[in-house]
Amino acid sequence: MTYETILVEQQGAVTLITLNRPQALNALNSQVLTELTAAFNAYDADPKQRCAVLTGSGEKAFAAGADIKEMVDKDAADFFLQDFFSGWQTGVVATRKPWIAAVAGFALGGGCELAMMADFIIAADTAKFGQPEIKLGVAPGMGGSQRLTRAVGKAKAMEMCLTGRNMDAAEAERSGLVSRIVAADQLVAEALKTAQAIAAMPPMAAMVNKEMVNIAFETNLAQGLLTERRLFQILTATQDKKEGMTAFVEKRPGVWKGR
Ligand code: CAA
Repeated sequence: MTYETILVEQQGAVTLITLNRPQALNALNSQVLTELTAAFNAYDADPKQRCAVLTGSGEKAFAAGADIKEMVDKDAADFFLQDFFSGWQTGVVATRKPWIAAVAGFALGGGCELAMMADFIIAADTAKFGQPEIKLGVAPGMGGSQRLTRAVGKAKAMEMCLTGRNMDAAEAERSGLVSRIVAADQLVAEALKTAQAIAAMPPMAAMVNKEMVNIAFETNLAQGLLTERRLFQILTATQDKKEGMTAFVEKRPGVWKGR
């Protein structure tokens, strides 16, 4: 597929996806969703690709939100009948392999929500996160009220949604929204380095670790612990478990089969 709103490149086992509408601060319109869905599906389906990084083009924004110009003339029936925003869950969140959001500049509204769909966020020191939808007479629609609340707790999430104020990188790290902060000019290089480290892990184990952590947000503790044990037990049937433990005992690096 040829893309117009994103750039996709492969660096070894890592796929780098770049939102590429800098003139609109990478606002997320339907075409971006269609293309991101295709790119994430292709990444998931390619056995040679083992981790992905999503970032924004330009220094100013990761993404300044859902495209307001695309929404301004739609009415409630349009949004309801199209089940507007539902495609982000099926097209992006459903990705089974790990991926990292590398955020510099604005991650507002849908931009913040897209970053939070990632397995974790690495932020540039220029990053600003916010859910300003209330200023447009609406509210988050791509998961912000749920994922932000789970990430930073009720007090900060509620304040951000009700006032539309932004959180800077330092506050985002303090609050647990991002895993760490790096200098803006090092952001993509650092994210790719982290992605390469993940890509060097046994790939089924990476997928299962991702699934396990995500299950913590979907279920109660007893069910989560049971699911963790069962998934652990399933992994012990893989060739990579045998190889990983044998390699440790033999004091050599593991060579992964991916099964
Ligand atoms: N949708 C469409 N276009 C957008 C956009 C958006 N979310 N954000 C910025 N743009 C466009 C601007 O319209 C402008 O285009 P033109 O040059 O054609 O006028 C261009 O990007 C540059 O933006 P600004 O001139 O506004 O840049 P700035 O530096 O003055 O301000 C900003 C930057 C504070 C991020 C400002 O652009 C802004 O407030 N953007 C909107 C943020 C927002 O409200 N996001 C939430 C959207 S709703 C949503 O996401 C719903 C949901 O839950 C999924």
